[in-house]
Amino acid sequence: MLNTSIHYENGRLFCDGVAVAEIAAQVGTPAYIYSGTRFLSNLRRIQAAFPTAHIHYSAKANGNLAIMKMLVNAGAGIDAVSAGEIHRALIAGAQPENIVFAGVGKTGQELYYALSRGVGWFNIENVEECRLLNSMAGAAQMVARVALRLNPDVAANTHRHIATGHGKAKFGMSTETIRDLLTRQGEFSNLSFEGIHIHIGSQLHDTTATQAAIRAALDVIQPYPTMRTVDIGGGLPVAYSADEIVPDVEAFAASILPLLEGYEVILEPGRAIIADAGMLITRVQYIKEQGEAKFAIVDAGMTELIRPALYEAHHEIVPLVEQGLPRESVQVVGPVCETTDVLGRDVALPPLAAGDCLAVLTAGAYGMVMASNYNARPRPPEVLVDPNGKSWYLVRRRETWDDLVAPELA
Ligand SMILES: Cc1ncc(COP(=O)(O)O)c(C=O)c1O
Repeated sequence: MLNTSIHYENGRLFCDGVAVAEIAAQVGTPAYIYSGTRFLSNLRRIQAAFPTAHIHYSAKANGNLAIMKMLVNAGAGIDAVSAGEIHRALIAGAQPENIVFAGVGKTGQELYYALSRGVGWFNIENVEECRLLNSMAGAAQMVARVALRLNPDVAANTHRHIATGHGKAKFGMSTETIRDLLTRQGEFSNLSFEGIHIHIGSQLHDTTATQAAIRAALDVIQPYPTMRTVDIGGGLPVAYSADEIVPDVEAFAASILPLLEGYEVILEPGRAIIADAGMLITRVQYIKEQGEAKFAIVDAGMTELIRPALYEAHHEIVPLVEQGLPRESVQVVGPVCETTDVLGRDVALPPLAAGDCLAVLTAGAYGMVMASNYNARPRPPEVLVDPNGKSWYLVRRRETWDDLVAPELA
């Protein structure tokens, strides 16, 4: 969706003070473009709404080093779900104690790496992981600080593929398991049980389930004075279209902070920081009319942005040049050999011709991080429009065909 950073000026799409067509002309398409102004102001807004909370940017939403570096410099910690993300976070300048390590299937090697780097929190998802971490921390003569991830068995108001807190999901532990672990803390002398973690899903359309999850979490930890931290995960939503009504960050904070008085709070937002700061630009290759449908076949597809194919996600698609011409309904499809390779169905766009450029909006989160080389397609470059609003630079170059074959041992 358009916003104060990604907007039209005299019919031309701008990212802050830079015409998007200028970037397209220089770096080519497809390409991701991010507004530094927008993601920093999204972070500041969350920091203001949760003034005493520790905000850990969720690197899984967009792990670009330049972006993480700026967020870390602006005071964010990092939420990492793999040793690879911890590695990235450290390169981006995050202090290890400001990293939380979550993830349902951390390997021993990953736990060892995190321990040896001094990562601040381990969000534990099962009893065996607890035992493994305890013995590794023991061998290293360390005490690891842990938060136990609760699966509160609540139904989040979101797409079924991104709901994580219902009882059948693989994430977290039941209240019974956590209660049992807490009564047996003495068996884990190299772990310090200090927090509870809940993340019931992404793109939460209301806070009802989050409130229920927090109440369940507090009920479990209330008898244990050392359990002073509640990590409520991510899930702060963004609007992907004008008619998508979601609570804003202030409303989200107002509805849950009163429940958490007296506790340290950790938040792991990803999408709410970076989604609406990013767009994917793409060029029309062909126009094809077939049956009733008009297809715009563009040079980006599910390899660059898989969310529409994976989650039936909606992204607004707009032209780089808006001349106020009458709109027509177009199927915006990619070049990948899959029927689901559709970026937008029935998109209302002005008449298009080969060579025209489009922008797929609100694509900053779960976009480039999920890009793939399927069909031997090099992944696109990423461009950052500086927070000064005027200059822009490549923060990741376009991959080459040689990059594609580089790891192979033929
Ligand atoms: C444990 C955890 N924390 C944080 C996040 C980030 O969520 P979001 O991008 O919705 O804020 C996720 C996303 O799935 C997650 O699994």
